[in-house]
Amino acid sequence: MRFRGLTIFVTGGAGFIGSAVVRHLLEDTEAFVVNIDKLTYASNLSSIPQAAGNPRYAFAKVDICDAPALRALFDRYQPHGVMNLAAESHVDRSIDGPGEFIRTNVVGTFTLLQEALRYWRGLEPARRSAFRLLHVSTDEVYGSLGAEGLFTEATAYQPNSPYSASKASSDHLVRAWRETYELPTVVTNCSNNYGPYHFPEKLIPHMIIKGLAHETLPVYGDGMNVRDWLYVEDHANALSLVLERGVVGETYNVGGRNERTNLYVVETICDLLDQLAPRADGSHRRLISFVADRPGHDRRYAIDASKLKDDLGWGPAYTFEQGIAETIDWYLANQEWVAEVTSGAYREYYTQQYGGKQ
Ligand code: NAD
Ligand code: DAU
Repeated sequence: MRFRGLTIFVTGGAGFIGSAVVRHLLEDTEAFVVNIDKLTYASNLSSIPQAAGNPRYAFAKVDICDAPALRALFDRYQPHGVMNLAAESHVDRSIDGPGEFIRTNVVGTFTLLQEALRYWRGLEPARRSAFRLLHVSTDEVYGSLGAEGLFTEATAYQPNSPYSASKASSDHLVRAWRETYELPTVVTNCSNNYGPYHFPEKLIPHMIIKGLAHETLPVYGDGMNVRDWLYVEDHANALSLVLERGVVGETYNVGGRNERTNLYVVETICDLLDQLAPRADGSHRRLISFVADRPGHDRRYAIDASKLKDDLGWGPAYTFEQGIAETIDWYLANQEWVAEVTSGAYREYYTQQYGGKQ
């Protein structure tokens, strides 16, 4: 069985992708998982039902900018690997308030690297050579594509938003800690994820939830921007594979070759909602409204994931059509989760349970 006897830190494990990684590690491997999360607005611990009473799971409410707290966790749990998913992740928020993105994505990654380095240097040789830090990043660091072409691992970095610039900075820090201090790091750059437990500020859950409420569906600009969609469970599988078998110092692009325009995505959601939650007052498509474009809006992303396929044998299990249908089914069946995250009730619970302001 995979990861038997190994302890893995997952930072940002209460977020969208981090919780999918934790669910995957608990369900499909024997790893002991330490979920390290500050519990920002984007987090929800109820996204990990497998955690309840699980002896292979621990949670620490810790900010990755907090060096002493991280140090205490490294000393206590002695991890074999770290998967860094803690981040501020929403482009629109980074445009309105870039400060938190610099703090968590840049300073937080720096702090985590420093504490991982201190811990790694203290390990005995066999543990030291087996240790890995996987930094989870995004295709947005490569900037925007024209009508043709794909991002490869060799594409030059050209970030266009405060979010992608902060992620690019963190990737550079990870590279430097590998080259300078020989910390055994691996980096992944993935395309747009979607699936269950996705916070409803992002395109797909935003449209599903607004569609169900029969509210306006705001499509930025002309709706012809293209994203390359990957089902979140496929990403989680890729990440555990890279942690296990990825080559130190390498970067792996992750993507599903599911390029779709935003308008196509929104219309597909409308058509599925028409079937699954029909309304007497007409098709959900009539709710679509074209609104002002996002400043610096990247036109097209598309990932060449052939290195991950050729070197590690990874491929996505879901087509976009399967994944989007399952996602809508999940949102329809989990209205309670949706109500929790949209009402803010879950944050009140956190405050009572774990203390501090969220
Ligand atoms: P998310 O916003 O859903 O979750 C981020 C998590 O990190 C939250 O649980 C939050 O509480 C936690 N967090 C934030 N700041 C923290 C801090 N200072 N200390 C500790 N925890 C903190 O994000 P996501 O969509 O799950 O993305 C996870 C990672 O994957 C990010 O690094 C993101 O850049 C990357 N990524 C995301 C996508 C995507 O489509 N969502 C695609 C490629 C890469
Ligand atoms: O490519 C990977 C990135 O994908 C990740 O690194 C980011 O963390 C993640 O948020 C995502 O970034 P995007 O900006 O592509 O995702 P978002 O869901 O915000 O928007 C997807 C597209 O839909 C984008 O072109 C903007 C558009 N959009 C978004 C929203 C929320 C709309 O047209 N209307 C909307 O209401």
